[in-house]
Amino acid sequence: MNTVVLGLQWGDEGKGKAIDYLAGGFDAVVRFQGGHNAGHTVYYRGRKVVLHLLPSGIFYPDCLAVIAHGVVVQPLQLVEEIRNARALGLRLDNLVLSANAPLILPFHQRLDVVFEDSRYQRIGTTRRGIGPAYEDVVGRRALFVGDLLDEPGFRSKIAVLAEYYNRLLAAWGQPAEALEPAASAYLAAGEFLRPMVGDSGACLRRALRERRKILFEGAQGSLLDIHLGTYPFVTSSNTTIAGVFSGTGLSPKAVDRVIGISKAYATRVGEGPFPTELGGKEGERLRELGNEYGATTGRPRRVGWLDLVALRHAVQVNGVDSLFLTKLDVLDGLDEVRAAVAYESGGGRSEDFPCLAGALSGVRPVFRSFPGWRTKLGGLRRIAELPAPARAYLDFVAEFTGARIGHLSVGTEREQTIEIQD
Ligand code: GDP
Ligand code: IMO
Ligand code: MG
Repeated sequence: MNTVVLGLQWGDEGKGKAIDYLAGGFDAVVRFQGGHNAGHTVYYRGRKVVLHLLPSGIFYPDCLAVIAHGVVVQPLQLVEEIRNARALGLRLDNLVLSANAPLILPFHQRLDVVFEDSRYQRIGTTRRGIGPAYEDVVGRRALFVGDLLDEPGFRSKIAVLAEYYNRLLAAWGQPAEALEPAASAYLAAGEFLRPMVGDSGACLRRALRERRKILFEGAQGSLLDIHLGTYPFVTSSNTTIAGVFSGTGLSPKAVDRVIGISKAYATRVGEGPFPTELGGKEGERLRELGNEYGATTGRPRRVGWLDLVALRHAVQVNGVDSLFLTKLDVLDGLDEVRAAVAYESGGGRSEDFPCLAGALSGVRPVFRSFPGWRTKLGGLRRIAELPAPARAYLDFVAEFTGARIGHLSVGTEREQTIEIQD
């Protein structure tokens, strides 16, 4: 069953852990959008590994790892990640990098920082150049991974782009970006990557013909989708199901199943509305219990209760077949667990996610309260062992969202996962 795994919240739902758990049953794992703004944590032989561009299936030596053309690639970052993975003993001789993946260039990173520090646009981005790189794609000026393989061509294209960006930087009162040593470093990275560069679309279509099983690894989460998220506090790609198709060149018929990942509570990094956010001591406590610090930037994550209105919206938008619920163990020992079941605003009470992005900042959540549990869930491996209050919470999540819970994660390790049969 070709399966898509998508984050249903504001990212960091535990996609790395879930993909690593699931990937054992697949022949290929594919990243299709986002870039090194992603930070996917996997525990491998007891060591914490954070992946930014490499698919989280690399820990299975026979699994093909694909970075498709929807991903924006910072080649120096990718080379470093490959080297780090090899230092862990992973061979990584089964990696395919799309020649058509747009490059993140030094100008993009510069402008991301300039915009973030300006008074015009404070999104709280990862400052990795993601937005400006996707802007170049839409603006029809992007350079691509394949360009790195032709030195004279790359040098002349990047020189033209440098002129364009240095005008912009000058207008912002910023010094120009020197072409060297960056251009040479990019070309050297291109040489390192050359054996892996290819046509990811053709490779995936072949895999489909050969009936190999493909796992698609989403980055970020649905509420950060450029079109469907909490705009403008979003990332610059389609993090929802549509991104699979535009980012790989496969048809919707290639997908048999959509698994949506959500924490048992909620987190968000960066600016933007977050109706169920917990402040003060309560928030600090949940942040510490869940160790909620960004895998990419180290920023403390904002934390809050599960927002079922938003989660149901994400389930519907993506056609989620089943939920992979993570970090339920983090709620162990709380007297009470809460989840938002409606929003209240000037317009009254609503169970619908507002269609105007800005409207979310004006809503007050209506909470439903659930009794907590004392049992430590980390050691449980069967759903029957779950304490009744935890079970009641899960049943309500499934009923409210209309999606069954297929997997439950109760810890960071691969083994700390419970499969729930229909
Ligand atoms: P991703 O971006 O969706 O891959 O998520 P991150 O890796 O950024 O953040 C999720 C964090 O939660 C990581 O530190 C994981 O190791 C951790 N994690 C994942 N699942 C669980 C779980 O079920 N319980 C606990 N306690 N931690 C988890
Ligand atoms: P993973 O894949 C959480 C957030 C940033 C910011 C907004 C835009 O680990 O879940 P960007 O740098 O993409 O232009 O920033 O999106 N953001 C993430 N938040 N997890 C991520 O990835 C994120 N990637 C981007 O914090 O609010
Ligand atoms: Mg993350």
